[in-house]
Amino acid sequence: MSDAYHQLLDATIRHLEILKSQGVEHVPVLSETLAALSAKPVVRATRPPETPGPGPVSERPKVPASTTAVRPTFADPVGYPSVSAPKPSTVPSAAARSRWSKAAAPMPSNPVPSKPPLPLPPPLAREAKQAALAGLRTQVLACVRCPNLVASRTTVVFGVGDVDARLLFVGEAPGADEDLQGEPFVGKAGELLTKIITAMGLSRDTVFIANILKCRPDTPGQTAGNRKPRPDEMDTCIPWLEKQIEIIQPQAMVALGATAMEGLLGKNALGITRLRGTWQDYRGIPVMPTYHPAYLLRNQAITEKRKVWEDMMLAMDRVGYPISEKQRGFFLSK
Ligand code: URA
Repeated sequence: MSDAYHQLLDATIRHLEILKSQGVEHVPVLSETLAALSAKPVVRATRPPETPGPGPVSERPKVPASTTAVRPTFADPVGYPSVSAPKPSTVPSAAARSRWSKAAAPMPSNPVPSKPPLPLPPPLAREAKQAALAGLRTQVLACVRCPNLVASRTTVVFGVGDVDARLLFVGEAPGADEDLQGEPFVGKAGELLTKIITAMGLSRDTVFIANILKCRPDTPGQTAGNRKPRPDEMDTCIPWLEKQIEIIQPQAMVALGATAMEGLLGKNALGITRLRGTWQDYRGIPVMPTYHPAYLLRNQAITEKRKVWEDMMLAMDRVGYPISEKQRGFFLSK
């Protein structure tokens, strides 16, 4: 049977899954349609595995600095200041939510750069999001589309956080620690990301953290080390992230580093220095590119920490998190 047939079938199944997760139990179908569906199918010789196919992969706003700048204490080598207890997430504004109200039903995602991006599906209620994300997780954990990564991985790293997170942080790929623990950003770079999130007054439970690649890139012939994901691996894996984004529908995303930016936006990986601090767009969701925490571990200049911190303040402001005077002053030299 034709690819078009299978694409339509996949789209129908996806649509039915979304309806089911929204609590719809019955769908009217014409008897002629049922008869046609019941007809004996012609079996195609090579059916691809039941995992998603390849997908797609301003001016710089200024954050006003406080005049009462507080230099953070450098209790840790990277010096991300800690703030008091994480603030509980509050209900997003109606204006922020209404952005999605006109969105159309989901279609198979394989956009060509010249075409307008696919609109996001209508947002789900919290329970439906949890169910959809749990179903997706089961699929992702069973993914075998990259034989080299399947052979080398210990775990598949799906992502963690709140299904209703206002902010979604996107990294590159799991490293050795993440591969062992099955959770993103738990190694050295992860500890720094956690400090940054805490300095924002948030916690890993109130945001969502995911990666472009769900498996650790293999390093044949080496026992340690990391490598950048290959374009074919990114193309193969990104549909999973797209699904996570469709389900969570954060108010904004933070692209951590060049690979995350390239994966989400298709922008040239060399552009992170130019694009960081400027709002980009992913299917209607604002994206703030910033440096990867691993870069801050390598370059501990306070100016670089301040740049990332300014990007974080822009993200906080965009999704309605308050920024204290103390926070505005982090990493400003007196
Ligand atoms: N770096 C990433 O980009 N992601 C992780 O999960 C860990 C380190």
